[in-house]
Amino acid sequence: MTSQPISQDLIVSKRHPLIGAEIRGVDLSSLISDEMVDAIHDAWMEHLLLIFPGQDISDEAHIGFGRRFGDLEIHPSLAHRSSSNKEIYRVSNVDENDQLIPPKETSWQYLSQSWRWHTDSSFREVPSKGSIFHGIETTNSGGDTLFANMYAAYDALDDSIKEQIEHLKVIHDHDYTLSLSPELAKKQDKGSYDVLPPVEHPLVQIHPVTKRRCLLLSPHTMVNIVGMDKAAGRALLDTLIAHACNERFVYRHVWAQHDIIMWDNRCTMHSVEPFDNVNIRRVMHRVTLAGENKPIAAAA
Ligand code: OGA
Ligand code: MN
Repeated sequence: MTSQPISQDLIVSKRHPLIGAEIRGVDLSSLISDEMVDAIHDAWMEHLLLIFPGQDISDEAHIGFGRRFGDLEIHPSLAHRSSSNKEIYRVSNVDENDQLIPPKETSWQYLSQSWRWHTDSSFREVPSKGSIFHGIETTNSGGDTLFANMYAAYDALDDSIKEQIEHLKVIHDHDYTLSLSPELAKKQDKGSYDVLPPVEHPLVQIHPVTKRRCLLLSPHTMVNIVGMDKAAGRALLDTLIAHACNERFVYRHVWAQHDIIMWDNRCTMHSVEPFDNVNIRRVMHRVTLAGENKPIAAAA
């Protein structure tokens, strides 16, 4: 593993050839300097996903760190907001009373949709810029998180496919996520959420910072391709999804307690590996960075 100091103390070491680097030499429990914020941001743009091991920080410090990179989202699902800090989205099979959540319960069914490949907040008109995730109670059997590099996935497509998809737009809908859970689909009570109308996003976007092209895929909200026959649209999306999660584009994160991971939702997608949620506790807290602009279509 090659490591390089990029700021006074910051050490960046790649964890995968295409995506993911470990960051040492910064303590996220205290206020970091503007210079450090810039150095982290540069490393984030280069590596798409940063891993900060051993950061046993409070929710307040987690939120404070997130705010150094922009405004924070409040998650639309009321049941998953922490009761003490609404900016904390609880990704957990244990409720706030420390009880394991029965698997058929609405709140668990909703969370388990993150086992599918997706990007966070793709259901918003302005999707999230990035997410910062704190592993509080991590698993050692299942529950890894997989991250795919969507620049590399785009670059590896044949020119003919690039041409075919350049102008396409996709309908994304929060409700579609709910329809993918057989349990939720048959329930009257689908949970309480802020109202979110369907939105349209380009299939190929330009990253607003790096200016590179990448695929904008989020299978758990993608309903269909605008103006395309439903079956043909589905087939094309499924082909692109299968291509993008090919293992050569994917970093698998095996969690250690108090890892903090920061990923860019504009050029990655992720999924959680299933784990035994009936017997194994998994408690993670997420802070979500609000996007600053609608996705920029590659096609003029
Ligand atoms: C999510 C999510 C990743 C994880 O909450 O959106 O994808 O590892 N979580 O739980
Ligand atoms: Mn997610």
